[in-house]
Amino acid sequence: MLLEIRDLKKSYAEPGGGKVPILDIAEFHVDEGEQVVLRGESGGGKTTLLHLISGLVQPDSGSIRLEGVELTGFSEAKRDRIRASKMGYVFQTFNLLPAFTALENVRLAMTFARRAVDGSRAKDLLARVGLSDRMHYLPSQLSVGQQQRVSVARALVNRPKLLLADEPTANVDPANQSRIIELIQSSCLEERVALLLVTHSDEVSKRFARVEQLGQLNRAAQRPLTQDAV
Ligand SMILES: Nc1ncnc2c1ncn2[C@@H]1O[C@H](COP(=O)(O)OP(=O)(O)OP(=O)(O)O)[C@@H](O)[C@H]1O
Ligand SMILES: [Mg+2]
Repeated sequence: MLLEIRDLKKSYAEPGGGKVPILDIAEFHVDEGEQVVLRGESGGGKTTLLHLISGLVQPDSGSIRLEGVELTGFSEAKRDRIRASKMGYVFQTFNLLPAFTALENVRLAMTFARRAVDGSRAKDLLARVGLSDRMHYLPSQLSVGQQQRVSVARALVNRPKLLLADEPTANVDPANQSRIIELIQSSCLEERVALLLVTHSDEVSKRFARVEQLGQLNRAAQRPLTQDAV
């Protein structure tokens, strides 16, 4: 098993004081190379779960194991290192560094993971996502779909074990949506990377054999609506 989550709890402080439980997940796992879609209502905690898995956020309690290694007790620096080397992250808003070209953005991910920069790996991935002729463009000179393809290349460059993708096609048009999802899925298959992808789209979900509803995994979701209901 690649990713194993047990009794994971996360709450956030409410602006007025007090705590709101966001996640309470008894068990969730992803196998090596498996492709999983995560769905659920807005505000249900999907992004929070990806943040917890990637170590951007710490849980209140519970266990997150990657390749059998418990991640939750590690320092922020160690979590950053593990994220950089073992995980790829594709954000809804791409998060490319604006002052750097497509190729530099992909190469920088190698630097962050303390890898020797392998220029041909970065170029190969940009070619795979169809951007051979745009490698030296800045993000601002790329279309939205092209920027997302750069971020897919960046997420894969360190040969991660797990790719986390948070609504990666929410900002692209339908034609580009299926192209990008196809690209993510085929790249993960070829590179033997497991994929956990958040989407609100039925079209996207149809392409996956395993679709998980966060509301069903999450015991904290049973709470009555408070502010949201007003
Ligand atoms: N830093 C934070 N401080 C306080 N509350 C937070 C924080 N981050 C998230 N939350 C709350 O946690 C809940 C879950 O948010 P999250 O972003 O995980 O939802 P989501 O399922 O990704 O929703 P969407 O589909 O809209 O992206 C929300 O109610 C949100 O207000
Ligand atoms: Mg979200």
